[in-house]
Amino acid sequence: MNFHVMTLFPDMVRAGLSESIIGRAAEKGLLSVEAYNIRDFAFNKHNKVDDYTYGGGAGMLMQAEPVYRCYEDILRRIAVRRNKEDVSGVRVVYMTPQGKLFDQDIASEFAKEEDLILLCGHYEGIDERVLEEIVTDSVSVGDYVLTGGEIPAMAVVDAVSRLVPGVLHNGDSSETESFSDGLLEYPQYSRPEVWHDRKVPSVLLSGDHAAVDRWRHEQALLRTKERRPDLYEAYCLKHD
Ligand code: ADE
Repeated sequence: MNFHVMTLFPDMVRAGLSESIIGRAAEKGLLSVEAYNIRDFAFNKHNKVDDYTYGGGAGMLMQAEPVYRCYEDILRRIAVRRNKEDVSGVRVVYMTPQGKLFDQDIASEFAKEEDLILLCGHYEGIDERVLEEIVTDSVSVGDYVLTGGEIPAMAVVDAVSRLVPGVLHNGDSSETESFSDGLLEYPQYSRPEVWHDRKVPSVLLSGDHAAVDRWRHEQALLRTKERRPDLYEAYCLKHD
């Protein structure tokens, strides 16, 4: 899986994704994350990529042409790697609070792609015309406004990467945890058995695997009902 992030702050993206599980997966060649500086595709001598908005109003807008040139450069690289001229099907994900709310289902869908281009906005946004021309998916990471799309893009790369085969060592740990079956994950405990007078639930020490599974499922249901009634309702509808 190859991620291509179009941004004005490539170092931010590289720093955020070069360590831990994603960094190790990249070192192993299971995935790649390339950050492209849109400023490198400016077409004026000052490397300016923003301008005032037509119609007035506060703030600056990212111009269409540098974004488009950056996109073309990424497509060219993908075409070379694939040894194919037509790479028109590559998805371009624009990070915006106006997008579809990112969730585990979208992450699973993106994980099927060989290449994914992520576009990060800044300032007051990006000229609509280039968005119309290249964007296939608009994604939001929540109903709040961040200063740019870099942190959302990193969240998407992280959530998608851990679904790529081999990235998580334990083959099924991305299956059992929160959201994979529509429920939040049950609580977990490690040593010691008693900490600050709090005991590990005795069923977990019983060695009775069926009882442990039952308890965990109950806890997942209770927790989801209490913390995410929306998910609980959807789960109940699906499972009668
Ligand atoms: N850019 C700014 N805020 C954002 C958000 N909530 N989701 C995605 N991209 C964004």
